[in-house]
Amino acid sequence: MDDTGYQRGDALLRRHQEDGARPAEFSLLGREWDLLEGVFSPTYTPVTELFSTWLPYPEGGSFLEMGSGAGVTAVVAAQSGCAAVTAVDISAAAVDNTRRNVERHGVGDRVRVLHSDLFSALDPADRFDLVFWNSNFAEPPADFVNETDLHHAFFDPSYDAHRRYVDEARGHLTADGRLMLGFSSIGNTAKLAAITERAGLETVTVRSQTRRLDEHTEIEFQLLELRQDLRPQRGPAAGG
Ligand SMILES: C[S@@+](CC[C@H](N)C(=O)[O-])C[C@H]1O[C@@H](n2cnc3c(N)ncnc32)[C@H](O)[C@@H]1O
Repeated sequence: MDDTGYQRGDALLRRHQEDGARPAEFSLLGREWDLLEGVFSPTYTPVTELFSTWLPYPEGGSFLEMGSGAGVTAVVAAQSGCAAVTAVDISAAAVDNTRRNVERHGVGDRVRVLHSDLFSALDPADRFDLVFWNSNFAEPPADFVNETDLHHAFFDPSYDAHRRYVDEARGHLTADGRLMLGFSSIGNTAKLAAITERAGLETVTVRSQTRRLDEHTEIEFQLLELRQDLRPQRGPAAGG
């Protein structure tokens, strides 16, 4: 297994754990935000800024943000015209952090925040025009266990959460609803392709950007759309 993603995830986790000087507030996208201990920081990597800027927020529609972290994308969605935003996270600290930033930016009338492992806290009837997750795309070794809530921000052992996201999201989309994933070139692209193909979805890159993060690391950040695969199925070649 290529462990570039794991190494990068591990370095980022350590930075979160060891940055004693981490401020309780940060600036991003021209706004000020609260940042709680144990929550993914949108200041160490460009993902939050890129995806929050690129997403095609449904004007007057509904948006589900999986894994909202500090809540930047959920707040930007509400400020960008979404009528109903649901933000969920498996981390209690992230839920608290998202609620604080929702309040700070005065969008509590159209954003609800839930503590949830993927879709589990949602009503089965809940449907959204756009479902999105800036996911924990670093794949750790097979026997790895996410020991703390913060580990979930980086690592998805065996890609089980990605598999559940793909399989369960479709039951929460409106008729024209779109399913998206914030991913990158250090994620396990082959495993994601196997998961989506099994679910009858094709993966389309909506936006991407390559950034050199240091002299050793260049990463392509990708906003992916997982669409129903309408391409003709390739069967075995006809004839003898
Ligand atoms: C890469 S961070 C992104 C955080 C935030 N959306 C941002 O862009 O700054 C991934 C987030 O997904 C959350 N997460 C991981 N596994 C989850 C799960 N099974 N259910 C809900 N949230 C999850 C993590 O706690 C983390 O906040």
